Amino acid sequence: MLIAGNWKLNCNIEEAKHLSSRIIESLDRKKLNCEVAIFPSYICLDSVNKTIEKTVISLGSQDCSVHKSGAYTGDVSANMLFDTGCKYVIVGHSERRIGKLESNNDILSKANNALESNLIPIICVGENAKDREDGRALEVIKKQLDESVPKNSNKNNCILAYEPIWAIGSGKIPDNSSINEMLNMIKGWLSNNKIDNSINILYGGSVNKSNAKEIFSCINLGGLLIGGVSLKPEEFSEICLMAN
Ligand code: PGA
Repeated sequence: MLIAGNWKLNCNIEEAKHLSSRIIESLDRKKLNCEVAIFPSYICLDSVNKTIEKTVISLGSQDCSVHKSGAYTGDVSANMLFDTGCKYVIVGHSERRIGKLESNNDILSKANNALESNLIPIICVGENAKDREDGRALEVIKKQLDESVPKNSNKNNCILAYEPIWAIGSGKIPDNSSINEMLNMIKGWLSNNKIDNSINILYGGSVNKSNAKEIFSCINLGGLLIGGVSLKPEEFSEICLMAN
């Protein structure tokens, strides 16, 4: 299992160092049955990397460029992130798919760049509320998978994250049967595409310490992608300690 904390656009360098130290303290000497990774902004990666050195916590970035290098002002490449100590990179988060108009093709390029740079992409997929109401959730996710997951992905180099858009930051979560249905569909999609179906699949969207235990009981769940609560070190660590 992987428990990933996406800090989004929060924390300056001092706050990021403090937050990572508090997570380390909360997890210290406790029996952890999962891997924990945190995803600060680009600007904090180096400082957080130094803070979490020699601990159980891994580092990831919230995004990377579709390009490898060149005249792309403001971009940060997968290779640069690897060089800064990242193990993971989130690609295709709905806040970028929607807010930055990223296409499935962009996400595929980012995931391929990550793979080439020895970074593990966490490829996010998720339906909006209307897709879910119209009974199109499975179909929408399948199209995102078809167009944004590299066919050479396997359990060692890639992770998927199912994040219903309507659940992110809303306090609403799908029931376990909907999560299980989606995880099963994704497993089936992997098999049909001759991709290793033991790839970890995370759930993300409004996870907190009160609903985490229930979500952990989903069959085929490979971990959690946590936004808001990852900024609360004690609660985030409590959820990490629930994983097995
Ligand atoms: P949330 O965010 O936990 O605040 O809902 C999840 C995410 O955006 O990855």
